[in-house]
Amino acid sequence: MTAAETERRLIRIQAASGLTFSLFLVLHLLSTMFASGGEESFDGFREGARAFYQTALFEIVVVAIPLLTHLCVSVARIVRRRRAGRNGKPALRLRLHRWSGWFLLAVILGHVGATRIAPLATDTQVGFGDLNFTTVFFGVGFAIYYMVLGVCGTYHMANGLTIAASVFGFRPPKALRMGPGFWVPVGAAAIAVVIGVASFSGWFFEIDPASWGSSSELLADFYGSDLESFAKDR
Ligand code: HEM
Repeated sequence: MTAAETERRLIRIQAASGLTFSLFLVLHLLSTMFASGGEESFDGFREGARAFYQTALFEIVVVAIPLLTHLCVSVARIVRRRRAGRNGKPALRLRLHRWSGWFLLAVILGHVGATRIAPLATDTQVGFGDLNFTTVFFGVGFAIYYMVLGVCGTYHMANGLTIAASVFGFRPPKALRMGPGFWVPVGAAAIAVVIGVASFSGWFFEIDPASWGSSSELLADFYGSDLESFAKDR
């Protein structure tokens, strides 16, 4: 197989894995937006959505395999690009796509480990109160990290969908791919995600530490802190 053929194959695998993973990511980002309605709204939406995306088949076929595939192919393409000396400056949209991809690449395994693998291993779930706990326990920087994660996920997915569509020969209407038709909905979605994170971080309304659940207890324990005394002292 020539280098060009290998590259074309990698591009298709990268696009297909991103497309498949988007099925989960859309629900995940939507649930974050629901946090602006408070605990009931967030936990209610997540509970409904989890019935769908926390089934073994979905988690393996739509989440784990596509995500790991996307990560491996992305790293392979970055390395091949560097080796081939293709270091030119692409258009801003693609540069933003790459920067957001690199940020996601750097944090995604930690994020999955903390929010899915650890709860799975300890038979707990991460709810609105537990997310609030992490932002109180680790401080404002953690809320900002969640916001950057949400904005990168929103942009990378939206832009990735337009690239992936054209990889498979489907060209969405120009009005949706470029200009305000792209930036207005994507910007609005990113703002809604940021507002969701600010909400569970307690920036807009008081959040009762009574909502901190068993996940928070385990996390506090892990860092040698007692949840009840932490709640009283803060
Ligand atoms: C958390 C999940 C994700 C991570 C960690 C991630 C990471 C990356 C990385 C590191 C790259 C390579 C950037 C570069 O070439 O410098 C990339 C490229 C790409 N991603 Fe993702 N991605 C994720 C989700 C998605 C989703 C949901 C889509 C939706 C379709 C997507 C579509 C793409 C596409 C099409 C490219 C190729 C862009 C190009 O033409 O160079 N990604 N991704």
